[in-house]
Amino acid sequence: MANSLGKMGFHNQIILAPMVRVGTLPMRLLALDYGANIVFVSSVDVLETVDFVAPDDRVMFRTCTKEKERVVFQMGTADPERALTVALLVENDVAAIDVNMGCPKEYSTKGGMGSALLSNPDKIEAILTTLVRGVSKPVTCKIRILPTMEETVSLVKRIEKTGVAAIAVHGRMKEERPRHPVHCDYIRAISESVSIPVVASGGSLDIIKTNDDIETFREETGASSVMLARAAMWNPSIFRSQGALSVDELQYIKELPQYSILCVCPQAVRYDNNTFNTKYCLCQMLRDRVESPMGKRLHAAQTNEEICEVFGMTDYYQMTQAELEARRWVLQATSSPGHQPAVDGDVITMAVRFERREYPPQITPKMYLLEWSRKEKLEQPVYETEQRAQDRAFQSTVTVAKKKYRSTLWCKSKKFAEQAAAIVCLRTLGVPEGLIREGNSSLVNKRKREERRHSASEDTGITDSTNRKRRVTEESQKEEQESSDKSMVVNGVPQP
Ligand SMILES: Cc1cc2nc3c(=O)[nH]c(=O)nc-3n(C[C@H](O)[C@H](O)[C@H](O)COP(=O)(O)O)c2cc1C
Repeated sequence: MANSLGKMGFHNQIILAPMVRVGTLPMRLLALDYGANIVFVSSVDVLETVDFVAPDDRVMFRTCTKEKERVVFQMGTADPERALTVALLVENDVAAIDVNMGCPKEYSTKGGMGSALLSNPDKIEAILTTLVRGVSKPVTCKIRILPTMEETVSLVKRIEKTGVAAIAVHGRMKEERPRHPVHCDYIRAISESVSIPVVASGGSLDIIKTNDDIETFREETGASSVMLARAAMWNPSIFRSQGALSVDELQYIKELPQYSILCVCPQAVRYDNNTFNTKYCLCQMLRDRVESPMGKRLHAAQTNEEICEVFGMTDYYQMTQAELEARRWVLQATSSPGHQPAVDGDVITMAVRFERREYPPQITPKMYLLEWSRKEKLEQPVYETEQRAQDRAFQSTVTVAKKKYRSTLWCKSKKFAEQAAAIVCLRTLGVPEGLIREGNSSLVNKRKREERRHSASEDTGITDSTNRKRRVTEESQKEEQESSDKSMVVNGVPQP
């Protein structure tokens, strides 16, 4: 078993705990910068492998070399073989593999995953043994405590025998909520009864207010290491040994969008961070300041650029965009044949996908294609969409000037499939498609003028974001009507 966590393994480490929605790549990089030694990727459920790998074969986990030696990949699973399949997919890109045995949410437990496993020790043993034997990286698990100390210690001893490298213990029972006090005595009893490292979790609310408190929590639980979830979500600089930065300094607030820009820009490794996820994390950090003028502007932001504006980082945003864009074109030109048009029968194809965040809120490639067709006095583009049975994914073909265009990548929604087809057409023709990085085009300017006219005449009782939503809806309705959405085909059978 290779140990890429270094000599310390899980001893004496300060760890960013797994947090769904929060523990994305930017937050993990931020935590590492501030001093976390290990970071967890939140639970990816592998009950159905198809949930893990998107219909277009995208793996639902993003990482980068910077965290490779220190990132632990957590999965939610109830099936040893599926768990192994997924672990083998990611093992070369991570430092360790963890199994989530603590999630009490119904979406997890109803499939026998998360805390449901705690009442099925045979299953726990089967999953962990299969993983320990099958993968080349350390395997760990994260549990909650059971109703009695005896039961908990007995379960943990059984887990230790599977060969796991460490065990993380959230010191609450599955029925207990995050506001309930953490049971340090249970974690201590576990730490004293096993020889593998124990990682204490659950101290954010009662104990960990400052960086020094991390050690206090470790001492109280007798654990080898400590893992922080909410304390890090509220202020990732809690990992700084010199002391956390205060919210008033706002210095750290500036860093998340910074990472987000890094992560949002298309490049070889395709880091990614969704605007809404970034907003969610920033709002968690602002806490009661979400009602401040800055919080309100953040709330209204629809793109990463707008988020950056809120923090006075427009110059940084533009500079990073330009740098990354240059890299993207070099990479595309040199390494990805899928981005060049190919011919499949009478259809021109390309492997492209519609990424909403790459376009201004009111703009889509379909709108650009429609506008261009009008200017060229061509007939309106005609979209035909097919849905395949195995995963219900969609693929569209658009006909423009009697030529057909299609993306080879299948999409989760019909709308996205049509946008992807429009992109293939526009890129093949060398026509702008409305990307933010293309800069303002006449269409974007036209939308802005319309928007300004609209705002001026609107009833002041309606908020900006309401206006925007309504305008976007109106635009998309118009667009939907304008596009001749001729037919839908499921398994080759046209649908009404
Ligand atoms: C937003 C959020 C998401 C979480 N997601 C996960 C998860 O995906 N997997 C997991 O094992 N625990 C998850 N947890 C639980 C934490 O890892 C941790 O055990 C718990 O919050 C107690 O630690 P704390 O007091 O430091 O917050 C999550 C907690 C929060 C607040």
